[in-house]
Amino acid sequence: MSEETIRRSELMWGAIAAFAVGIMAAVIVVSSFAMAIHPPSNVETIDPTTLNTNSEFAESNLGTRVNPDGSVTVRIVATQFEFLPRCIPVPKDRQVTFRVTSPDVIHGFLIAGTNANTMVVPGYVAQLRTVFGTAGDHLMPCHEFCGLGHSEMWALVKVLDGAQWKPDSSGKISCELPR
Ligand code: CUA
Repeated sequence: MSEETIRRSELMWGAIAAFAVGIMAAVIVVSSFAMAIHPPSNVETIDPTTLNTNSEFAESNLGTRVNPDGSVTVRIVATQFEFLPRCIPVPKDRQVTFRVTSPDVIHGFLIAGTNANTMVVPGYVAQLRTVFGTAGDHLMPCHEFCGLGHSEMWALVKVLDGAQWKPDSSGKISCELPR
């Protein structure tokens, strides 16, 4: 093989590699700016030692609430070894914002059958938004090993359609786990 052939081959493969890198960079730029696809990355800190006196994550404020502007927020504390609350009603076809935090160790937040999936790290508020297109129940297991009771740590998300979705006058709505 002549020097010239080798040089051409190297240039060709160099160009192919540069093209591939260019395509990948373009995919990242288009998906993040034009399509707004990001990994869950809400960086919001909270003092994990005082959650029970924190106005947002006090026990009486946990669960599903319709805000005055009509949006729906669900606040959850993930703790060894349960989610508070354990039954979470949400409306069908409306955007729901989940805000989750932990007072003890890292837990996982996953709504089976949906794209809702994040870690719950003490000291931070994990936030994500999603829309449920069909009514029905979703299991919500903890998916980060958090101790001996990890496999017992789960909750239920109940997607309610219009007739079942009945928040009270303060905007709160809750549900009971089936026996
Ligand atoms: Cu909480 Cu595993």
